[in-house]
Amino acid sequence: MNILLFGKPGAGKGTQASRLAEQLEVRTLATGDVLRNAINEGTPLGMKAKDYMDRGDLVPDDVILGIVGEALRRPEYENGVILDGVVRTVPQAEGMERVLESLGRKLDAVLCFEIENDDIVKRLGGRTVCDKCQTPYTGRAAGSKCEKCGGTLVRRKDDEPDAIRNRLAVFKKQTAPVFDWYARNGTRIVTVKAVGDVATVSDRALQALGR
Ligand code: AP5
Repeated sequence: MNILLFGKPGAGKGTQASRLAEQLEVRTLATGDVLRNAINEGTPLGMKAKDYMDRGDLVPDDVILGIVGEALRRPEYENGVILDGVVRTVPQAEGMERVLESLGRKLDAVLCFEIENDDIVKRLGGRTVCDKCQTPYTGRAAGSKCEKCGGTLVRRKDDEPDAIRNRLAVFKKQTAPVFDWYARNGTRIVTVKAVGDVATVSDRALQALGR
Protein backbone atom coordinates (compact mmCIF):
# COMPACT_ATOMS: atom_id res chain seq x y z
CA MET A 1 0.00 0.00 0.00
CA ASN A 2 1.12 3.56 -0.72
CA ILE A 3 -0.49 5.89 1.81
CA LEU A 4 0.10 9.63 2.15
CA LEU A 5 -0.37 11.06 5.64
CA PHE A 6 -1.71 14.59 5.54
CA GLY A 7 -2.42 17.04 8.36
CA LYS A 8 -1.31 20.12 10.25
CA PRO A 9 2.05 20.22 12.04
CA GLY A 10 1.61 18.31 15.29
CA ALA A 11 -1.49 16.42 14.11
CA GLY A 12 0.28 13.17 15.02
CA LYS A 13 1.51 12.07 11.59
CA GLY A 14 4.89 10.88 12.89
CA THR A 15 3.31 9.08 15.85
CA GLN A 16 0.81 7.27 13.63
CA ALA A 17 3.22 6.62 10.74
CA SER A 18 5.30 4.06 12.65
CA ARG A 19 2.22 2.33 14.09
CA LEU A 20 0.51 2.08 10.70
CA ALA A 21 3.71 0.92 9.03
CA GLU A 22 3.96 -1.95 11.49
CA GLN A 23 0.34 -2.98 10.90
CA LEU A 24 0.54 -2.66 7.12
CA GLU A 25 4.05 -4.16 6.91
CA VAL A 26 5.58 -1.34 4.92
CA ARG A 27 8.27 1.26 5.67
CA THR A 28 7.78 4.96 6.39
CA LEU A 29 9.33 7.92 4.60
CA ALA A 30 9.23 11.25 6.46
CA THR A 31 10.83 14.24 4.72
CA GLY A 32 11.09 16.08 8.06
CA ASP A 33 13.18 13.22 9.51
CA VAL A 34 15.38 12.97 6.39
CA LEU A 35 16.06 16.72 6.59
CA ARG A 36 16.74 16.75 10.36
CA ASN A 37 19.18 13.84 9.97
CA ALA A 38 20.93 15.77 7.18
CA ILE A 39 21.19 18.83 9.46
CA ASN A 40 22.62 16.71 12.30
CA GLU A 41 25.18 15.21 9.92
CA GLY A 42 26.05 18.63 8.44
CA THR A 43 25.52 17.51 4.82
CA PRO A 44 24.93 20.00 1.94
CA LEU A 45 21.23 19.01 2.01
CA GLY A 46 21.08 19.83 5.73
CA MET A 47 22.83 23.16 5.25
CA LYS A 48 20.35 24.09 2.53
CA ALA A 49 17.32 23.13 4.67
CA LYS A 50 18.27 24.39 8.15
CA ASP A 51 17.17 28.03 8.01
CA TYR A 52 13.84 27.19 6.38
CA MET A 53 13.11 24.55 9.00
CA ASP A 54 14.13 26.61 12.03
CA ARG A 55 11.72 29.36 10.92
CA GLY A 56 8.95 26.86 10.20
CA ASP A 57 8.96 27.62 6.46
CA LEU A 58 8.78 24.97 3.77
CA VAL A 59 11.96 23.68 2.16
CA PRO A 60 11.90 24.33 -1.66
CA ASP A 61 9.94 21.87 -3.80
CA ASP A 62 12.93 20.78 -5.91
CA VAL A 63 14.81 19.68 -2.77
CA ILE A 64 11.84 17.64 -1.52
CA LEU A 65 11.17 16.03 -4.89
CA GLY A 66 14.86 15.12 -5.14
CA ILE A 67 14.68 13.31 -1.78
CA VAL A 68 11.45 11.51 -2.68
CA GLY A 69 12.51 10.50 -6.19
CA GLU A 70 15.72 9.01 -4.87
CA ALA A 71 14.18 7.30 -1.81
CA LEU A 72 11.22 5.59 -3.47
CA ARG A 73 13.52 3.76 -5.89
CA ARG A 74 15.15 1.92 -3.00
CA PRO A 75 14.20 -1.77 -2.55
CA GLU A 76 12.98 -1.14 1.01
CA TYR A 77 10.00 0.78 -0.44
CA GLU A 78 9.17 -1.78 -3.12
CA ASN A 79 6.18 -3.19 -1.18
CA GLY A 80 4.68 0.19 -0.39
CA VAL A 81 5.24 3.19 1.81
CA ILE A 82 3.68 5.40 4.45
CA LEU A 83 4.55 8.93 3.32
CA ASP A 84 4.68 11.21 6.38
CA GLY A 85 4.44 14.93 5.61
CA VAL A 86 6.03 14.37 2.22
CA VAL A 87 3.58 16.45 0.13
CA ARG A 88 2.96 20.02 1.30
CA THR A 89 2.46 22.02 -1.89
CA VAL A 90 0.55 21.44 -5.12
CA PRO A 91 3.79 21.22 -7.19
CA GLN A 92 4.97 18.49 -4.76
CA ALA A 93 1.67 16.60 -5.27
CA GLU A 94 2.18 16.80 -9.03
CA GLY A 95 5.82 15.74 -8.72
CA MET A 96 4.96 12.83 -6.45
CA GLU A 97 2.39 11.64 -8.99
CA ARG A 98 5.12 11.63 -11.67
CA VAL A 99 7.58 9.73 -9.43
CA LEU A 100 5.00 7.07 -8.56
CA GLU A 101 3.89 6.79 -12.18
CA SER A 102 7.49 6.23 -13.30
CA LEU A 103 7.62 3.32 -10.85
CA GLY A 104 4.28 1.90 -12.05
CA ARG A 105 2.61 2.75 -8.75
CA LYS A 106 -0.05 5.10 -7.44
CA LEU A 107 -1.34 6.40 -4.12
CA ASP A 108 -3.95 4.11 -2.59
CA ALA A 109 -5.20 6.80 -0.22
CA VAL A 110 -4.55 10.15 1.39
CA LEU A 111 -5.10 9.73 5.13
CA CYS A 112 -6.00 13.10 6.58
CA PHE A 113 -5.73 13.79 10.33
CA GLU A 114 -8.13 16.45 11.64
CA ILE A 115 -7.29 18.58 14.67
CA GLU A 116 -7.89 22.14 15.94
CA ASN A 117 -5.02 24.63 16.24
CA ASP A 118 -5.45 24.99 20.05
CA ASP A 119 -4.80 21.26 20.51
CA ILE A 120 -1.70 21.53 18.33
CA VAL A 121 -0.18 24.38 20.29
CA LYS A 122 -0.65 22.34 23.50
CA ARG A 123 0.90 19.24 21.93
CA LEU A 124 3.94 20.87 20.39
CA GLY A 125 4.63 22.96 23.50
CA GLY A 126 5.17 19.70 25.40
CA ARG A 127 6.98 17.68 22.74
CA THR A 128 10.51 16.33 22.88
CA VAL A 129 12.02 14.15 20.14
CA CYS A 130 14.88 11.65 20.03
CA ASP A 131 17.97 13.18 18.45
CA LYS A 132 18.79 9.83 16.79
CA CYS A 133 15.60 8.03 15.72
CA GLN A 134 13.27 11.10 15.88
CA THR A 135 10.57 9.36 17.94
CA PRO A 136 8.29 12.08 19.41
CA TYR A 137 7.36 12.11 23.12
CA THR A 138 4.96 14.08 25.28
CA GLY A 139 5.66 14.88 28.93
CA ARG A 140 9.30 13.69 28.82
CA ALA A 141 12.00 16.22 29.70
CA ALA A 142 14.75 17.22 27.28
CA GLY A 143 17.92 15.34 28.21
CA SER A 144 16.16 12.05 29.10
CA LYS A 145 16.73 8.87 27.07
CA CYS A 146 14.71 7.51 24.14
CA GLU A 147 12.85 4.27 24.97
CA LYS A 148 13.40 2.93 21.46
CA CYS A 149 17.10 3.56 20.76
CA GLY A 150 18.70 5.15 23.83
CA GLY A 151 19.22 8.50 22.04
CA THR A 152 18.80 11.80 23.88
CA LEU A 153 15.49 13.67 23.87
CA VAL A 154 15.70 17.27 22.66
CA ARG A 155 13.31 20.13 21.92
CA ARG A 156 12.89 21.03 18.24
CA LYS A 157 13.73 24.64 17.29
CA ASP A 158 10.52 24.84 15.29
CA ASP A 159 8.46 23.94 18.38
CA GLU A 160 9.07 27.42 19.83
CA PRO A 161 5.87 29.58 19.84
CA ASP A 162 6.82 31.88 16.91
CA ALA A 163 7.80 28.95 14.68
CA ILE A 164 4.62 27.02 15.58
CA ARG A 165 2.51 30.05 14.60
CA ASN A 166 4.41 30.32 11.32
CA ARG A 167 4.03 26.58 10.58
CA LEU A 168 0.25 26.81 11.09
CA ALA A 169 0.08 29.85 8.77
CA VAL A 170 2.21 28.06 6.16
CA PHE A 171 -0.06 25.02 6.39
CA LYS A 172 -3.15 27.14 5.75
CA LYS A 173 -1.64 28.99 2.81
CA GLN A 174 0.52 26.41 1.04
CA THR A 175 -0.46 22.94 2.26
CA ALA A 176 -4.25 23.04 2.70
CA PRO A 177 -4.77 23.46 -1.11
CA VAL A 178 -3.11 20.04 -1.58
CA PHE A 179 -6.24 18.43 -0.10
CA ASP A 180 -8.41 20.00 -2.83
CA TRP A 181 -5.89 18.95 -5.47
CA TYR A 182 -6.21 15.29 -4.44
CA ALA A 183 -10.00 15.59 -4.27
CA ARG A 184 -10.10 16.97 -7.82
CA ASN A 185 -7.63 14.33 -8.94
CA GLY A 186 -9.96 11.54 -7.80
CA THR A 187 -7.53 10.11 -5.22
CA ARG A 188 -9.26 8.31 -2.37
CA ILE A 189 -9.27 10.58 0.70
CA VAL A 190 -9.90 9.17 4.16
CA THR A 191 -10.35 11.58 7.06
CA VAL A 192 -10.02 10.68 10.75
CA LYS A 193 -10.18 12.67 13.97
CA ALA A 194 -6.66 12.98 15.38
CA VAL A 195 -7.69 13.56 19.01
CA GLY A 196 -8.13 10.85 21.63
CA ASP A 197 -5.48 8.41 22.74
CA VAL A 198 -2.85 7.29 20.26
CA ALA A 199 -4.12 3.70 19.96
CA THR A 200 -7.68 4.92 19.31
CA VAL A 201 -6.48 7.19 16.51
CA SER A 202 -4.57 4.23 14.96
CA ASP A 203 -7.69 2.04 15.17
CA ARG A 204 -9.76 4.75 13.51
CA ALA A 205 -7.18 5.11 10.75
CA LEU A 206 -6.92 1.37 10.05
CA GLN A 207 -10.68 1.00 10.05
CA ALA A 208 -11.08 3.94 7.69
CA LEU A 209 -8.49 2.37 5.37
CA GLY A 210 -10.50 -0.86 5.49
CA ARG A 211 -7.78 -2.88 7.31
P1 AP5 B 1 8.00 17.65 10.02
O1 AP5 B 1 9.02 17.09 10.92
O2 AP5 B 1 7.28 16.75 9.13
O3 AP5 B 1 7.04 18.52 10.91
P2 AP5 B 1 5.46 18.79 10.83
O4 AP5 B 1 4.73 18.49 9.61
O5 AP5 B 1 5.40 20.19 11.28
O6 AP5 B 1 4.91 17.74 11.73
P3 AP5 B 1 5.38 17.41 13.18
O7 AP5 B 1 6.54 16.48 13.16
O8 AP5 B 1 5.54 18.69 13.97
O9 AP5 B 1 4.09 16.76 13.76
P4 AP5 B 1 3.43 15.36 13.48
O10 AP5 B 1 2.14 15.56 12.73
O11 AP5 B 1 4.40 14.37 12.93
O12 AP5 B 1 3.05 15.02 14.97
P5 AP5 B 1 3.79 14.07 16.05
O13 AP5 B 1 3.46 12.66 15.78
O14 AP5 B 1 5.22 14.46 16.21
O15 AP5 B 1 8.66 18.80 9.13
C1 AP5 B 1 9.48 19.78 9.73
C2 AP5 B 1 9.92 20.79 8.71
O16 AP5 B 1 10.63 20.13 7.64
C3 AP5 B 1 8.81 21.56 8.00
O17 AP5 B 1 8.34 22.66 8.77
C4 AP5 B 1 9.56 22.01 6.74
O18 AP5 B 1 10.44 23.06 7.02
C5 AP5 B 1 10.39 20.78 6.40
N1 AP5 B 1 9.67 19.85 5.51
C6 AP5 B 1 9.35 18.54 5.76
N2 AP5 B 1 8.68 18.01 4.73
C7 AP5 B 1 8.56 18.99 3.80
C8 AP5 B 1 7.94 19.06 2.53
N3 AP5 B 1 7.29 18.02 1.98
N4 AP5 B 1 8.00 20.23 1.86
C9 AP5 B 1 8.66 21.30 2.36
N5 AP5 B 1 9.26 21.31 3.56
C10 AP5 B 1 9.21 20.16 4.28
O19 AP5 B 1 2.97 14.51 17.34
C11 AP5 B 1 3.10 15.80 17.89
C12 AP5 B 1 3.06 15.71 19.43
O20 AP5 B 1 1.76 15.27 19.81
C13 AP5 B 1 4.06 14.70 20.02
O21 AP5 B 1 4.52 15.20 21.24
C14 AP5 B 1 3.22 13.43 20.23
O22 AP5 B 1 3.74 12.65 21.29
C15 AP5 B 1 1.85 14.03 20.55
N6 AP5 B 1 0.73 13.21 20.10
C16 AP5 B 1 0.62 12.49 18.95
N7 AP5 B 1 -0.58 11.88 18.88
C17 AP5 B 1 -1.26 12.26 20.01
C18 AP5 B 1 -2.57 11.96 20.52
N8 AP5 B 1 -3.42 11.17 19.85
N9 AP5 B 1 -2.93 12.53 21.69
C19 AP5 B 1 -2.07 13.33 22.38
N10 AP5 B 1 -0.82 13.63 21.96
C20 AP5 B 1 -0.43 13.10 20.78
